[in-house]
Amino acid sequence: MSILVTGGTGYIGSHTVVELLKKNEEVIILDNLCNSSKDVLDRIEKITNKKCKFYEADIRDEKELEKIFSKNKIDSVIHFAGLKGVGESVEIPLEYYDNNVYGTVKLLEVMKKHGCKKIVFSSSATVYGDPGTHKYVEEMGRGKASSPYGATKAIIEEMLENLYVADNEWTISILRYFNPIGAHESGLIGENPNGIPNNLMPYIQKVAVGELKELSVFGDDYDTKDGTGVRDYIHVVDLAEGHVKALEKLTSPGVYIYNLGTGSGYSVLDIVRTFEKVNNVKINYKIAPRRPGDLAMYYADPSKAKKELGWEAKRGIEEMCRDSWNFIKNL
Ligand code: NAD
Ligand code: WQD
Repeated sequence: MSILVTGGTGYIGSHTVVELLKKNEEVIILDNLCNSSKDVLDRIEKITNKKCKFYEADIRDEKELEKIFSKNKIDSVIHFAGLKGVGESVEIPLEYYDNNVYGTVKLLEVMKKHGCKKIVFSSSATVYGDPGTHKYVEEMGRGKASSPYGATKAIIEEMLENLYVADNEWTISILRYFNPIGAHESGLIGENPNGIPNNLMPYIQKVAVGELKELSVFGDDYDTKDGTGVRDYIHVVDLAEGHVKALEKLTSPGVYIYNLGTGSGYSVLDIVRTFEKVNNVKINYKIAPRRPGDLAMYYADPSKAKKELGWEAKRGIEEMCRDSWNFIKNL
């Protein structure tokens, strides 16, 4: 039996495929390569010495999905495929609803038709909205989405819950990621977005290699320890391991929601200084105005995942910064 990984050549998907192959799972990747490239497949093979089947396909293409499910015995799906730019989603909301929501509907329809009723879905801490507290616990539920991107994640979560009510044979894991950074220790896979990055670590990486002049630190007047924004950064390999645990542990039908974070918050300047220290490079930065829509501080309560999945993040920010640099400097 195989595991289908949608978005498997992407940043989090590729690291998860590596962890699955390490467990001798049979993996099939589906990706339309809109935000990744085929050479990731060779890199995965280099790391694991194993191959996986690859389909260049779009989750919205029902015919292609039909073909993939007919030709293979697929037991479960880890669903990463989607667009993820918060700012971009404000510019082109319909493409976000089409890709993320409609694409997931098509995927679920074909899964159902083929009796494949086990899915792990990539959700995000953004679904909490602005709950007025710093520590996010699963029971708090979903808040008002602050972007069309966030809305697509909240809608998909709700859709998955509705699906289980209608048919309680489904086993559905909803994993809410906090801020994934870092890269595989081999330096072969990691995150390298096209153009000017929106997220903190990809921006720091480009400053470190000299592609960008300086980082703008968005606000130094928040009510945090040094005035800069605080987030729960999680090493992408820890995150990948969380998916493997979710597949292993969640074997009876239901809807299971977990935060995947470390439980610790670090400021923008913590990350800048740690990156400088562990990599011995200088990160030029300037203080800039706050970025609209940003919250001052939030981090996960990861205790539910620890208790029920036996999963917890093991890698600290030093390792995250070291691995991010190791990946980018070898590109
Ligand atoms: P990514 O862009 O690196 O990976 C997504 C992959 O999906 C890409 O390879 C892309 O080519 C593919 N894809 C997109 N639309 C597709 C479609 N219609 N059909 C087939 N393939 C398609 O992003 P990532 O950081 O690896 O994120 C993976 C998932 O996790 C996304 O759903 C994202 O929203 C979610 N997530 C990411 C973060 C983060 O900070 N990286 C945080 C929370 C949640
Ligand atoms: C982190 C901190 C910024 C860039 C986003 C999505 C979230 C999830 C993870 C998908 C903040 C500061 C950033 C820069 C800066 N993704 N910053 N200068 O906004 O916490 O979360 O990615 O689901 O939904 O919203 O991540 O990396 O953009 O920002 O000072 O150039 O770094 O203000 O405090 P964010 P981020």
